[in-house]
Amino acid sequence: MASSFLPRHFLSVADISEADARKIFEEVAHQKRGGVQGVGSDLPLQGQVWALLFRKPSTRTRISFDLAVRQLGGSTLFLSATELQLSRGEPMEDTARVLGRMVQGAVIRTFAQEEIETFARSSGISTVNALTDQEHPCQVLADIFTFEEKRGPLSGKTVAFLGDASCNVARSWALAASLFRFHLRFGAPRAFFCDVENPWIVQTELADEAVRGADLLYTDVWISMGREEESALREKAFAPYQINRSLVRRAKADALVLHCLPAYRGKEIDGELFEERAPDIFDEAENRLHVQKGLLRWLATR
Ligand code: CP
Ligand code: NVA
Repeated sequence: MASSFLPRHFLSVADISEADARKIFEEVAHQKRGGVQGVGSDLPLQGQVWALLFRKPSTRTRISFDLAVRQLGGSTLFLSATELQLSRGEPMEDTARVLGRMVQGAVIRTFAQEEIETFARSSGISTVNALTDQEHPCQVLADIFTFEEKRGPLSGKTVAFLGDASCNVARSWALAASLFRFHLRFGAPRAFFCDVENPWIVQTELADEAVRGADLLYTDVWISMGREEESALREKAFAPYQINRSLVRRAKADALVLHCLPAYRGKEIDGELFEERAPDIFDEAENRLHVQKGLLRWLATR
């Protein structure tokens, strides 16, 4: 049976306060000092099993959570939705009730945000959003941690997000802007503007305007998982928003370029620029591991 205390979830950037985020980042810095193999002495998940339930492909998120749980003393159960009765129509609510009686936490990648909300409600165990169509909150925590590690506090700085401002990663950035109080400029076609509005966000169809004086240039794939049938339309619509040298020249001289990966060279980012900025981008990828550990520790210790 699930335990009687209320489990902590991380389903959206909106689930945490700035103070929570700062506490998570303190944990992350501590974890990172232990290196990629972990701190070793601190095992808050000892004796626990965490399910990693994925309905979409993943490299970084799957591997980093698998290692993070193990390094914090727990063990993992990777569950591909195609191999569960979910694929034959069993409701998520029932899957959640089964898992809630057998494991202590769940990391879920799926399509609809409502599905992880249903899981969190029905399972009674701590639940983490490993990407939905609406959000990718763990990615954006790692992105912000990476920026601050390299350039100092993000508060008051300007982030330019180029490309698909309607996607999950963009929406998590939009929610993070009011939490961390940074300026966020989306450069995107109007049909792909972000549906989150807050005083920290500006949306423009002019890529030059979005990046002018920015401290961070950021992009994500043009064709998110599940949008493959729109490939031709998207490649045409997003072509003016590729991050390349000419756009980088309009940003601050020391502007960071990050990419959540996987990267499609010659599409959302120029191939040579990607290689030039690869040291930062793969630090960002490594930080996924440290951030998952900080987040899991924060979830596990109330
Ligand atoms: N950035 C990211 O979430 O990568 P994966 O899809 O490989 O997990
Ligand atoms: N927006 C992308 C992120 C991939 C990590 C997608 O949903 O496919």
